[in-house]
Amino acid sequence: MAAGLVALHTLALVAGIFITLEGPEGAGKSLQATRLVDSLHAAGDRARLTREPGGTRLGEQVRAIVLSDGPGDATIDPVTEALLFNAARAQLVVEVIRPALEAGEIVVCDRFADSTLAYQGYGAGVGLTDLRAIADVATMGVVPDLTILLDIAPEIGLARKTADSRNRFEAAFDRAFHRRVRAGFLELARTEPDRWTVVDAARDPESVFGDIRDAVASVR
Ligand code: TYD
Repeated sequence: MAAGLVALHTLALVAGIFITLEGPEGAGKSLQATRLVDSLHAAGDRARLTREPGGTRLGEQVRAIVLSDGPGDATIDPVTEALLFNAARAQLVVEVIRPALEAGEIVVCDRFADSTLAYQGYGAGVGLTDLRAIADVATMGVVPDLTILLDIAPEIGLARKTADSRNRFEAAFDRAFHRRVRAGFLELARTEPDRWTVVDAARDPESVFGDIRDAVASVR
């Protein structure tokens, strides 16, 4: 099993490039992820954009459960949430990410396993060791080559969202939760500086994209 994981990871590193975008609410991830993939296509690269939760039929169904009002009542336990996000993740890895990396593509994913550590771990208090163990199963050894943190203060990020564009996390969790999420992302970036690049996302989209392009050039 362990040898299989190593072989898979090595293959992914050799064949394709896996880039993830992470960050708190309102950081502009989705816009920047689309722009990045468009620019890679324009340069003639085979690149693919996907997102979490989502990216597969099952994943989009999980997205509807975790981002709306939940399964009928208003609360979802954070451990349940972590398992749901990881169920969607496992399907995305098997159906989309791993085949694309094996085919030599650049895969850009809007959120990945680090979001669970930041939101359900640092934000909601689920143990990081448990979350890492679950994520190891779900990701099957696929680790991003580059993770870009679009860092922004919750005060600025949440203000960018209108009331009707807010998902359950943005609407139901308080400011302190979102501050812990942001601090969690920064802590994750500090402990693994070779994988992470931190970009100040409070600036104009053009400047943010310039930094993203530079970071991506460094793993090409
Ligand atoms: P996102 O698609 O970025 O929402 P939006 O485009 O509306 O900003 O992310 C969905 C939400 O799910 C976001 O609030 C973060 C949360 N989330 C987790 O709590 N844990 C996870 O593992 C993932 C992938 C997302």
